[in-house]
Amino acid sequence: MSKNLINNTRVKVKIKKGSKTVSSRRWLERQLNDPYVSAAKKDGYRSRSAYKLIELNEKFNFFKKGQSVVDLGSAPGGWSQVTAEHVDSPNKGKIVSIDIKDVEPIDGVIFINGSIMDDEIIETIRQKLQGGADVVISDMAPYASGHKSTDQTRSLLLAELALDAALILLKEKGIFCCKLIRGKGEEELVKIMRVYFSEIKRFKPDASRKDSAEIFLIGLNFNNQNLA
Ligand SMILES: C[S@@+](CC[C@H](N)C(=O)[O-])C[C@H]1O[C@@H](n2cnc3c(N)ncnc32)[C@H](O)[C@@H]1O
Repeated sequence: MSKNLINNTRVKVKIKKGSKTVSSRRWLERQLNDPYVSAAKKDGYRSRSAYKLIELNEKFNFFKKGQSVVDLGSAPGGWSQVTAEHVDSPNKGKIVSIDIKDVEPIDGVIFINGSIMDDEIIETIRQKLQGGADVVISDMAPYASGHKSTDQTRSLLLAELALDAALILLKEKGIFCCKLIRGKGEEELVKIMRVYFSEIKRFKPDASRKDSAEIFLIGLNFNNQNLA
């Protein structure tokens, strides 16, 4: 998909001296030259991240019509939009999403404004879901501090909390997918996932920026017999 999106004309941002910082000019240039940003605008997705989930789903067949899905870290809503299309929510499927930021309503998505760190959040999700989840996805990312190891540690914590939620919410044979900034703790996390999922995959979609250390960890075929 990414190949079709590539357009070779590069936009340069000219700015008046002193009107913008170098980093904001770079950000703007990157946005204007990013084929996934233009595609998201054209396709009506709220985020370029939507294409990461589309690729993940093409590769691992996460979704079927009628499934129940939990989307962790859902703002502004791109992943929830993609999920709603695939599970046919609200007609057949069900989606419960959470984020600390607000999300404009999406047809077929039950949104909870809350943090994965809140003690009550999993119970709140469970009540809204009214049953187990077939798939738990997490694109949660910490606010970027610019300090590499701080951001990596925070990303690991969010991935661990996403896994904790998945172990409680998933149905037998369910699927878990979470974003992680690669680094310290990755192998330990994968080791824990191996206890509960019969297959573990690591995948970096084309839509994931090459200069980003993010990767997606996928657990297939959840086995809840191994829960203590
Ligand atoms: C990359 S964005 C998600 C983009 C989304 N998947 C989409 O396609 O629109 C990461 C999100 O994680 C959320 N997040 C960060 N910490 C969180 C937490 N403790 N609980 C819930 N969400 C969190 C952020 O607010 C942010 O909206």
